[in-house]
Amino acid sequence: MAKKKESPQGTEWNYSPSPESTTHVKLEKRYALFINNEWVAPSSKAYFPTLNPANETVISEIAWANDKDVDKAVRAARKAYQEVWSKLSGAERGKYLFRIARMMQEKSRELAVIESMDCGKPIRESRDIDIPLACNHFFYYAGWADKLEYAFPTKNPKPLGVAGQIIPWNFPLLMAAWKIAPALAAGNTVVLKPAETTSLTALKLAEIIKESGLPPGVVNIVTGHGDTGAAIVNHPDIDKIAFTGSTNVGKIIQRSVAGTHKKTTLELGGKSANIIFDDAPIDQAVEGIVNGIFFNQGHVCCAGSRLFVQENVAEEVIRKLKHRMESLYVGDPLDKNTDIGAINSKEQLDTINRYIKIGIEEGAEIHQSQCAIPSQGFFCRPTLFIGVSQSHTIAQEEIFGPVLSIQTFRTVDEVIQKANNTPYGLAAGVWTDKGSRIFNLTTQLKAGVVWANTYNKFDPVSPFGGYKESGFGREGGLHGLGAYLKLS
Ligand code: NAI
Ligand code: MG
Repeated sequence: MAKKKESPQGTEWNYSPSPESTTHVKLEKRYALFINNEWVAPSSKAYFPTLNPANETVISEIAWANDKDVDKAVRAARKAYQEVWSKLSGAERGKYLFRIARMMQEKSRELAVIESMDCGKPIRESRDIDIPLACNHFFYYAGWADKLEYAFPTKNPKPLGVAGQIIPWNFPLLMAAWKIAPALAAGNTVVLKPAETTSLTALKLAEIIKESGLPPGVVNIVTGHGDTGAAIVNHPDIDKIAFTGSTNVGKIIQRSVAGTHKKTTLELGGKSANIIFDDAPIDQAVEGIVNGIFFNQGHVCCAGSRLFVQENVAEEVIRKLKHRMESLYVGDPLDKNTDIGAINSKEQLDTINRYIKIGIEEGAEIHQSQCAIPSQGFFCRPTLFIGVSQSHTIAQEEIFGPVLSIQTFRTVDEVIQKANNTPYGLAAGVWTDKGSRIFNLTTQLKAGVVWANTYNKFDPVSPFGGYKESGFGREGGLHGLGAYLKLS
């Protein structure tokens, strides 16, 4: 511990820096495309830099795939599907998935550090949440690969063929695992595109896949921007599109696949309600609020970005929340003490700051923690707004940053009506001592996931996905497996 300052209350103490080592990390200066288990230069010869958002330095250069490259990857995936993967027994497919899961575990420390460097998330999260969960998705679906007939009895499960998968930058390796593991377990082959700001852990996964001996072409990883994603979506020889990202791009994708044979699952944005009743354990609820909106800098599609507090405890909850916000560490993602890391990109930081400005202009009252933030890199202080009403932009639109809007309510019916009054429907949290109230709300809230007395808990076994503009289809669990199968 290091001394922070002397104050009338006594000495304030601060944690000494505790940076995670980066010496064990192996990164190339430049990454090509991963097609047929080979590293292939992009036919465009174009590369783009990937930055560390905490210090704005270039980490590596990433290949920018065009239509031709995507076509090459889809052909490789089709050939692998027809000649190898669809002919293997489920038990054999499962063995490969188990092997990949174990190799990811062996490299988990390196993967966690790279994730924090490329994405900006605190090492505590990448080390304790992202990477273990990504491994668990491979373990979980490995177990199903030889049991498809038991998972879907009388349904004669058959793979779809080639899956095109497009993922965002908020949980890079975890999203890759959510997409690849069930697709392979079900007998499909894959062309996956990571987000342009966070390609590195998917490329490290490609190295693991090559080393695992997975037959060439079963997993192909093509990097690039939105045009690369569009080339995957529009390729005629793809049987399934799985997308996680913004609602805008989700709508474009749905228009593109309309009238084709392509199956789709879309996991889009959210504006999820976290609801605190007066009989809730308040201190735990405050931790749940912090976890709901400040976890991963609020870069979470199911972030609890709208807080509803019952009126008679609002003063206490807000006071305790402000106090707790002061103890959050914002800074170096590689420091083990850091609670809130870097915003993933300059563009996203600009978006968040634009919403903060709108919140102030529309008359809500802002409170930000007073902590110091680094002068370099993209950082945002934890922020809350009170005096918010349903019509405020910050209560309606997805901000995707550490910004919470707070409203109060008196009755159960009122809060259900307010919570459902959004175009989204991804998740919700309910904090109360009363079991019957939890069941009442879980049936009435239009949200794919409802957490009771907790928030942001994930497990490979439980399905995840939304209602309304949050998308459709489920990932995780048996539902997530079924989304990669033809069922009769
Ligand atoms: P985005 O939707 O543009 O990016 C997600 C992925 O889609 C990336 O891999 C991107 O390259 C790809 N993509 C972009 N345009 C495409 C197209 N026309 N066809 C196919 N693929 C395409 O999201 P962006 O711009 O990075 O973030 C914007 C907002 O989206 C955020 O502020 C946030 O509100 C929301 N978002 C939601 C996420 C979620 O998990 N639901 C994840 C990321 C962003
Ligand atoms: Mg980056």
